[in-house]
Amino acid sequence: MGSIAKTTDALQRPLKDLRISVIDRCNFRCRYCMPEEVFGPDFPFLPKDKLLSFEEITRLAKIFVSLGVEKIRVTGGEPLLRKDLPKLIRRLGLIEGISDIGLTTNGSLLTKYAKELKDAGLNRINVSLDSIDNEVFRQMNGGRCDVSTVLEGIEAAAKIGMKVKVNMVVQKGVNDQDILPMARHFRGTGHILRFIEFMDVGNSNGWNLNQVESKRDIVERIHNEIPLEPLNSNYLGEVASRYRYQGSNEEIGIISSVTDSFCSTCTRARLSADGNFYTCLFASKGMDLRSELRSGSADAEISKLIEQFWNRRLDRYSEERLYNTNLSNNQKVEMHYIGG
Ligand code: GTP
Ligand code: 5AD
Ligand code: SF4
Ligand code: SF4
Repeated sequence: MGSIAKTTDALQRPLKDLRISVIDRCNFRCRYCMPEEVFGPDFPFLPKDKLLSFEEITRLAKIFVSLGVEKIRVTGGEPLLRKDLPKLIRRLGLIEGISDIGLTTNGSLLTKYAKELKDAGLNRINVSLDSIDNEVFRQMNGGRCDVSTVLEGIEAAAKIGMKVKVNMVVQKGVNDQDILPMARHFRGTGHILRFIEFMDVGNSNGWNLNQVESKRDIVERIHNEIPLEPLNSNYLGEVASRYRYQGSNEEIGIISSVTDSFCSTCTRARLSADGNFYTCLFASKGMDLRSELRSGSADAEISKLIEQFWNRRLDRYSEERLYNTNLSNNQKVEMHYIGG
């Protein structure tokens, strides 16, 4: 594609990142995302013909890149449940203009796929792990996986040269006691541990502000045992605030979408597995790009639609919620569908 346009929204935020969900299914049932009572055996997950094909995803990704996207992150549900995922990674890696491809996974299938992913060109991976205590972890993921399985996956990826970040969602009263054990465990491994404030995404996790362990509290707990110092962001719009253990190069991060939101620099677009384009994690309505693809629209037409949708973008949900904790939208997209 020719020269890269700069596409900005109504708040002057450029379009720079694309998070692509490749499947809405997951083999975990994390209570804060897909509680078993809601996402049981009868839940209507997307049938195969509704999922975008790898050709369709790649075609859209190229259009997004022509509008300014430089970074792509592949998500799910659990993306490694999508058949032949490494083939998609390879295709995305061939798109000119992309400087970074990442994958966010629950790690349960990583031991099996790490090598194929690396061979397909994936150099970094973000793995979710909410506790180092097996009982707590199993209780959080719906009894689907042991800590040891995820740790093996992380080591398999690291051993072949992938950079690893570990994401821990902190829910007060559930796993906040594991903040320090997690910090101690990952210190010295070279993997960047990131603590994520529990967010009110989706409509099923019964979110409540009292269950949010704030960035401030998380930093304080760690700092009291292992002194920290803040680091500058790697780039404008980075989601995590960075810190390092004093006197070392070891980094950790905090993702504070609740108490210190980062909407003013949000450059992320999201594509669901069935081809809906969303301009915010907390949106309720997207733009149906699959219909455009399947009704024969040309690249230029689809590009125009995406551009216009982004130009109108006013989303800043987390910022608005900061001033109004009662803010509610009970028709938000689900996290397993939009990929976080
Ligand atoms: P890096 O490129 O490695 O920094 O990845 P990332 O942190 O952008 O992606 P990851 O999938 O690891 O996301 C970590 C956490 O940040 C998840 O809980 C996401 O839901 C959350 N997150 C990512 N982007 C946004 C965003 O735009 N808004 C909000 N509110 N949360 C986000
Ligand atoms: N709050 C914060 N993070 C969440 N994630 C899923 N649901 C929530 C929530 N309610 C995280 C996952 C994964 C990333 C994609 O989003 O644990 O690390
Ligand atoms: Fe848990 Fe991620 Fe699966 Fe949701 S998509 S149930 S957060 S592993
Ligand atoms: Fe971006 Fe919406 Fe998240 Fe704010 S809440 S950072 S606008 S995705």
